Amino acid sequence: MTHSLMSTYNRLPVTFARGEGARLWDTDGNEYLDALSGIAVCNLGHAHPTVTRALCEQAGKLIHTSNLYGIGGQEALGNALTALAGMDQVFFGNSGAEANEAAIKLARLYGSRRGVRTPAIVVMDNSFHGRTLATLSATGNRKVQAGFEPLVQGFIRVPFGDLDALRAVAAHQPDVVAVMVEPIQGEGGINVPPADYLPGVRALCDDRGWLMILDEIQTGMARTGRPFAYQHFDFRPDVLTVAKALGNGVPIGACLARGEAADLFAPGNHGSTFGGNPLACAAALTVCETIREQRLWETAEAIGTRIQGGLRAILAGVDGVIEIRGQGLMIGIQLDRPCGALVTEALNQGLLINVTAESVVRLLPPLITSEQQADQLVTKLGGLVSDFLVRD
Ligand SMILES: Cc1ncc(COP(=O)(O)O)c(C=O)c1O
Repeated sequence: MTHSLMSTYNRLPVTFARGEGARLWDTDGNEYLDALSGIAVCNLGHAHPTVTRALCEQAGKLIHTSNLYGIGGQEALGNALTALAGMDQVFFGNSGAEANEAAIKLARLYGSRRGVRTPAIVVMDNSFHGRTLATLSATGNRKVQAGFEPLVQGFIRVPFGDLDALRAVAAHQPDVVAVMVEPIQGEGGINVPPADYLPGVRALCDDRGWLMILDEIQTGMARTGRPFAYQHFDFRPDVLTVAKALGNGVPIGACLARGEAADLFAPGNHGSTFGGNPLACAAALTVCETIREQRLWETAEAIGTRIQGGLRAILAGVDGVIEIRGQGLMIGIQLDRPCGALVTEALNQGLLINVTAESVVRLLPPLITSEQQADQLVTKLGGLVSDFLVRD
């Protein structure tokens, strides 16, 4: 079926033909409840009428010009996104990896301006930052890196959530210019750090003059119960990356910065042919406005609490469930064994989920998931997980 495509993906045996809200239908007409949102992308659900309208209108006017010219939609989106994210300025690219590439380049430029000849960025074990050479080098997963050596230099790795490890780096590594961290690790297994961790990273960055770079590609756009996950706290990062849900499925990524970090790039330092083109900006502007007007982070918090509470109740006392964790609609169920088989079992029962870090069931439902759909998800998944653990 896929001989013309490079075999980069292990695909499930299903093809979807259409969607509406949190539901999808395959090419045979079977219905599914989507608890994954295309991996945290379709936060407003499928075929969102306002996004569809904005895209159709924009496609009828202009799809692309170039960053050689002014792009009205890009400026409007820049204003809406910087306001939502609490940042000063933004650069638009097309994906998460590109947003992180821009952030890494900003950190290097910051170091170079300060006369640091071999600037280093501290990154975390079990992190995921993308598949380009620089971002896979930053990623804390050997499987992602294997075969692609030599890796890009200039990353120092420490355990996630460990402030002492970061302090040790501060004491011994004079060339550090930045820390790059996900507020909650997504691909790494929905790992929520201790409450004092991110504020502690901020304090250390302030003390050492390092940039704090937050990768909010999976946590951003209202998923965790705030517009951005760092807004659960009382600080701001220097650099913040976002992609995935920014266009609700239309490819667009962004690297935001504030203060000194926002003044680093000059013409010629960075760019992208497609980045922030009129079509992508029309989608993303609608997404930002919808999230803001409907305060969808509050929905994410409420529905997320309902799902987490439901899962805790239905899986209470089930042997093999180690922990249910997460924030808002970013939820992980840590089992005591590899559980990849659950993905196909759920699919066969009309439910889309994902397994990451081998033994963590990952849920990233659309923010518009209704209470009834949330309850359906809990009942179905609770049964699947319990059966799996009894049988396996
Ligand atoms: C935290 C994080 N950063 C970066 C990326 C890479 O994004 P993209 O696949 O759009 O390049 C991902 C993708 O899963 C991610 O979860």
